[in-house]
Amino acid sequence: MARERKSKSQKVGSRRKIERKKDKIIIKGRSLRAQEELILQSPRGMRDILPEDQPYWQQIRKVAEKAAADFGFRRIDVPVLEFTNLFARGVGSGTDIVEKEMYSFATKSAEKVSLRPEFTTGIARAYIQHGMKVKPKPVKLFYIGPCYRYDRPQKERFREFYQFGFEALGEIDPVLDAQMIQMAWRVVHQLGIKDASVQINSIGCPTCRKNYLDLVVSYFESKRNKLCIDCKKRLEKNPLRILDCKEDKCAQVAANAPQSIDYLCDECRSHFKELLEYLEELEIPFELNPSLVRGLDYYTKTVFEIFSGIDGECNKNALGGGGRYDGLIKLFGGEDTPAVGFAIGMDRVVSEMKKVQARIYREPKPRVFLAQLSNYAKKKSLKIFEAIEKSGVLVAESFGRGSLKSQLKIADRLGVELTLILGQKEALDGTVIIRDMVSGAQEIVDGGKVVEEVKRRLKSVRTVVKGQ
Ligand code: HAM
Repeated sequence: MARERKSKSQKVGSRRKIERKKDKIIIKGRSLRAQEELILQSPRGMRDILPEDQPYWQQIRKVAEKAAADFGFRRIDVPVLEFTNLFARGVGSGTDIVEKEMYSFATKSAEKVSLRPEFTTGIARAYIQHGMKVKPKPVKLFYIGPCYRYDRPQKERFREFYQFGFEALGEIDPVLDAQMIQMAWRVVHQLGIKDASVQINSIGCPTCRKNYLDLVVSYFESKRNKLCIDCKKRLEKNPLRILDCKEDKCAQVAANAPQSIDYLCDECRSHFKELLEYLEELEIPFELNPSLVRGLDYYTKTVFEIFSGIDGECNKNALGGGGRYDGLIKLFGGEDTPAVGFAIGMDRVVSEMKKVQARIYREPKPRVFLAQLSNYAKKKSLKIFEAIEKSGVLVAESFGRGSLKSQLKIADRLGVELTLILGQKEALDGTVIIRDMVSGAQEIVDGGKVVEEVKRRLKSVRTVVKGQ
């Protein structure tokens, strides 16, 4: 509405001019410095999540929190900012995330910080900082919140996006990898995305990966002239990422590249084999994807991604991903601590839920409406509203309205069972009119007994409904 009003070029008083340039609204004010423009638009790649969309997000939070409780994960919140070198070391300085996509800046005291592009690194830092190594293993943590990546905004790729995720630290057994995949699959499934599938790979440990990397590098070196510009750079810095480059010509070259699972050491091979057996036992549909390497350097052994059916086919826009990161805590100076985890992108899940018309969170509906007529009645209504709401009954009002007709219209639209009417006379007498919205019958009750009467009537309505 406000936007509509501002959409026409117009003058507000003599001081401000609001004009519309393409889809940007710019307010120029003489009181502001000449170049200063107020752009009434969220920054590129960032969005407002409006009340209409909240039931999707609330449903995701509900399902994720339930999974956390069911599997014994406890909530952790870490700052949205960390020191930049934490991400550089953890995620990897040669990764796209660190090299191109971080929102980094210096604070007033010249500390170099970045908005978190993901959670796992911050959680590994928190694990060491708070001495969580003394806790019973695995330490199971759950999180939810925004992440920031200065990527090129495109379909389902935002600069501010939301993740929830689970990390289990201190356990090497592949059964935990299986449990993580089970959770990711289950959560996505419970959110109505029934055709989700899992892609999985093992990229080995630093020992076996060294030999494998040598092979991959010499293979891609021999095909250098067939690679895109980015992959030519990746060849120096992050050769495994060439395997999942989306450029056609690189994908063709990558299709014949050596595959990590053929070069796993005995330990990594048996870890992977056991994991696949667990997944078969769990009857989770998974697919081996030898090109799956993930865009973060901390991974060891298992890596996986979860796709919706349609996206899985064209191999893009994963709903979530994760894997093992057995070396991360040690890399940060902590003890040797194997770990595994995953994160789901909430923005992409919301868009998928819309596509499949998934069930969403339904706000509890008010059962009572409180209507008032006259200023004195309005004053008295405030207390009555509080008393009813405190008693646990959801009550609605529209105190700003004056006419009974318009208030009853709202009550009707909300589908409440009872409307309480407080006019000037009732407010002076200390009484309230109770109107049964189904029969239209009205009765005057004592103000002191109104809560009791409302509860009694609602109870009897429930009984009738139940008995039908
Ligand atoms: P990731 O694959 O970078 O992994 O991100 C996980 C999910 O976040 C993606 O599958 C995607 O759904 C969502 N996501 C990532 N970038 C964007 C974006 N620009 N716009 C919208 N959604 C996005 C991680 O972040 C790891 N920390 C996961 C993990 C946890 N590994 C071990 N533990």
